[in-house]
Amino acid sequence: MAIFKKKKTEMAQLPPPKHIAIIMDGNGRWAKNRGLPRTAGHGAGAETFRRIANYCRTLGVEYLTVYAFSTENWKRSEDEIAGIMKLLRNYLLEALQDMEKNHVRFKFFGDLTRLSPDLQELCRKAEMTSSKYHEVQVNFCLNYGGRDEIIRAAQAFAAKVAAGECAPEELTEEQFGNLLYSAGIPDPELIIRPSGEMRTSNFLLWQSAYSEYVFMNVLWPDFKEDDLDAAIAEYHRRNRRFGGA
Ligand code: FPP
Repeated sequence: MAIFKKKKTEMAQLPPPKHIAIIMDGNGRWAKNRGLPRTAGHGAGAETFRRIANYCRTLGVEYLTVYAFSTENWKRSEDEIAGIMKLLRNYLLEALQDMEKNHVRFKFFGDLTRLSPDLQELCRKAEMTSSKYHEVQVNFCLNYGGRDEIIRAAQAFAAKVAAGECAPEELTEEQFGNLLYSAGIPDPELIIRPSGEMRTSNFLLWQSAYSEYVFMNVLWPDFKEDDLDAAIAEYHRRNRRFGGA
């Protein structure tokens, strides 16, 4: 997969994808380049998220899914993990306050039970109080792993079989999709990974079967609105065949 280098003059003229997913990568390197602690990089990354989420809304993107904390990120230092959790907590408190003004629906993909009880409560509250909004949806992947999500769905289906509710051979892709965190949400047409890395890193493994990946040479804290325009323009240049000729 070739890394995509944006052209400065490029602007997304065509309608944006309905669903964009982003791996917010490069916060640590951004901080290191400035001699700052990694948590400062995540703080800058959280600011970029705010800007880009607003911009997605302006463009008319209906679903934005971001990788905020993976099932593997627990390997990081306690300090770094606490820093990320604090940023999430602050963001959710702010989002809850602005709920009536912004009308953004929030969803969380991942096993929240490993988070602190107060953060779990904030997630539940954000999900519940925003469930009446249907214009724009932000999905936070938190303690999320694509393999973990698929295993959980398989377990849920096996439990249905064991209970005599259905037979194994009756399972369809659609039914399996409905057992995932993303049930009812269209697959992302476009997945953006900044920072120069070219991996999926256990992100939306099922949902990305036919997503267009755009890899960009910019660290997430430096990611700007014109980078998103460039990624959308690149998406429109792709010839999506979905396995057809
Ligand atoms: C990956 O970059 C980033 C993360 C694991 C954390 C992302 C979290 C945030 C941006 C803050 C979350 C809060 C809100 C409000 C969205 P990295 O640390 O792996 O970067 P590196 O590869 O350069 O070390």
